[in-house]
Amino acid sequence: MKNTHCIAILGFGVVGGGVADLITANGGEIENYLGVKVQIKRVLDLRDFPDSAFSDRITHNFDDILNDSEIDTVCELMGGSHPAYEYTMAALKAGKNVITSNKEVVANFGDEFLRCAKENGVSYRFEASVGGGIPALSPIINCVRQNKIKEVRGILNGTTNYILTKMFTYGDSFDSALKDAQDKGYAERNPDADILGTDACRKITILTALATDKLVSVNDVHTEGITKIRAEDVKAVEKIGMKIKLLGRCILEEKPQILVAPFLMSEASPLASVNGVFNAIEVVGEPLGNVMFYGPGAGAGATASAVVGDIMQVIASGTHSKAPAFERTDYSPKEAFTDFKCKNYVALPKECADCTERFGKVTLLDSPECAFITELMSEKELEAACEGLNVLSRIRLL
Ligand code: HSE
Repeated sequence: MKNTHCIAILGFGVVGGGVADLITANGGEIENYLGVKVQIKRVLDLRDFPDSAFSDRITHNFDDILNDSEIDTVCELMGGSHPAYEYTMAALKAGKNVITSNKEVVANFGDEFLRCAKENGVSYRFEASVGGGIPALSPIINCVRQNKIKEVRGILNGTTNYILTKMFTYGDSFDSALKDAQDKGYAERNPDADILGTDACRKITILTALATDKLVSVNDVHTEGITKIRAEDVKAVEKIGMKIKLLGRCILEEKPQILVAPFLMSEASPLASVNGVFNAIEVVGEPLGNVMFYGPGAGAGATASAVVGDIMQVIASGTHSKAPAFERTDYSPKEAFTDFKCKNYVALPKECADCTERFGKVTLLDSPECAFITELMSEKELEAACEGLNVLSRIRLL
């Protein structure tokens, strides 16, 4: 084994800077542990960083990295699909390992990257792409696949969990909580990806692929964000001891259901206690039961921890650790979604009190509106009941 492992960082933003900081601060411990020094040889960014300790290693030209035979591993921390896709493919074909925190590119092209890595005898790793600093992907690949996996679900977006926590706990407005999350570096460049559920959707497709080997298209996943949740809903459900969390769910039935949406759950459930920027991923397996992975889901230090963990895995196990196999499928969970069954919270204007019988047996809530919880209904049945009504809110129950 070589005694120095050279890496290049693509993208010197929140995550790239966090990786450089972590290696600078803990490089000695990493070297003692592995017997190999991790050296940052190049950093690619559009900007110059004259005041950075890495200013002499900044390049604006990817070829400086691609053509440098000393660079063993490329850390693609840029985000977005392009040029991340092109740089990743070029690096893998050049015999370099690639490590990423970029869920968009993994969700869109993970199958191609894993195939290309295998063909070229290198590793493609993406622990940081889901759950930030939580070590969840490696355990799902290596420690739970002996079970029949029934469901993988989780709070997969730190920004929205931070916003919901502030709305529930401190009565913050949506806008001020979002601004706070952006200031802390949790949010995506375009926060629509957080609040509209797109980021969580990418992450649940990655988790689904880890649990099933099948990579579904993000466009085939029913995805809702948190923008329609109102202060009135928060007040009504708090009174019955419930919380709202944005969940990604992959339910492995005969026709798998994969969706992202806000869900109501009892305050006593483990996922309800996950607050702030923390994420949690729960795997339900047979005979295992439920296991939950929990930790900080976004932010420089947490995400860097997962990236550097992947670098250490590459160094320690070379290409021999079990690589996930993603196979692209054209199965569209959206087509099965009309049969998805759950209980629902529904809020209608007060004057619609007579309309509740359309929803079958309901439990009325203490609210100035006409708010109630239904029994189990399919999406199709609920949609029919809501037709022609001014529905103020509808939230599914876990
Ligand atoms: N914007 C993402 C989040 C960053 O808030 O979870 C981590 O993927």
